[in-house]
Amino acid sequence: MNDTFLKACRGEKTDYTPIWMMRQAGRYLPEYQKVRGKVTFLELCKNPELCVEVTLQPIDILNMDAAIMFSDILIPMEAMGAPLEFHEGKGPVFPESIRSKADLDRLIVADPYEKTGFVMETIKLLRRELKVPLIGFAGAPFTCATYLIEGGSSKFFWETKKMMFTNPALFHEVMEKITQTTTRYMLAQAEAGAQALQLFDSWAGILAPCDFEEFALPYATRIIADLKKTGVPLIYFANNGATLLDLSVTTDADVIGLDWRINIGEAIRKVGKKAVQGNLDPIALLLPRDELRRRIQQLLKGAEGAFGHIFNLGHGIHQFTPPDQARYAVEYVHELSAR
Ligand code: CP3
Repeated sequence: MNDTFLKACRGEKTDYTPIWMMRQAGRYLPEYQKVRGKVTFLELCKNPELCVEVTLQPIDILNMDAAIMFSDILIPMEAMGAPLEFHEGKGPVFPESIRSKADLDRLIVADPYEKTGFVMETIKLLRRELKVPLIGFAGAPFTCATYLIEGGSSKFFWETKKMMFTNPALFHEVMEKITQTTTRYMLAQAEAGAQALQLFDSWAGILAPCDFEEFALPYATRIIADLKKTGVPLIYFANNGATLLDLSVTTDADVIGLDWRINIGEAIRKVGKKAVQGNLDPIALLLPRDELRRRIQQLLKGAEGAFGHIFNLGHGIHQFTPPDQARYAVEYVHELSAR
């Protein structure tokens, strides 16, 4: 078992800097496309055997130091009773968006075993196959709430902010229900065998720090506190979160995920005694190899003072990334960081 990733999460000495990439199982891999050609995205998410297959692809092909179970952050939202669709080229759609108390009353706090047993099954199957640690995940409540309230992806988050500012009590009720579901969902993942848990707050960066502190952070904080008893490392990733870093570090997360918009050395000074994960611009994988090497050197050097460092991209790998470039980055991080 290669436990380099887990050691880095805990701030223990490692033989080299471990690396994985957010959204590492996905469309940039022809092997993923082949599986996806036979089923819809949601069918894939609900088929444990196929989830295992695509989770393993980046481990085998790119030599990542951690696996992330294949699923989606919106699966537990569907389990709460919100019908979910994925439209080609448009992404997720919730046709029955949550805008009123009556809408919210239609949603339940989902039982993770009853409604998302296929996720726990995927985790159990993966643990038999994997020689690297398995990361489970969920969306942070704020990010999930934006999808439910907007009815899908958004640019200005008008409906989300409208509810926050004109009916804050209802907004907090939405967050409360999502939080309860998410806590139970992540506890179940740890029980099934997930060895680390990441909370993806992909849209936290659209908030002013004061609103993040009032409307989003308390819920992420509570989930992280409730997950502490699992004993597995907890990762909090607030995308576009450089301006929120002082607040994010107040959570009890063991690892703070960093997007690429902040200098890693500067981030480490703010993060202090927690590990950091990141933070290469995903599209920097397109750089010519000598320049890509220089970027990786800079990043590893910048992270030297970290309590622990897990190399990653600053957000998900882009769907048009040549797999060979990602593989090269992994190889070079391993080579250069060997100590
Ligand atoms: O990281 C991994 O390899 C595990 C799998 C994973 C997926 N989604 C698979 C996926 C993870 C961790 C996610 C998380 C997720 N899903 C997030 C948070 C991370 C982030 O990127 O900010 C968010 C916001 C979602 C919601 C979501 N799912 C969107 C907006 C989309 C469409 C995006 C797009 O690129 O079109 C998805 C679909 C999705 N989730 C795909 C994959 C591989 C593409 C679906 C396909 O095969 O057509």
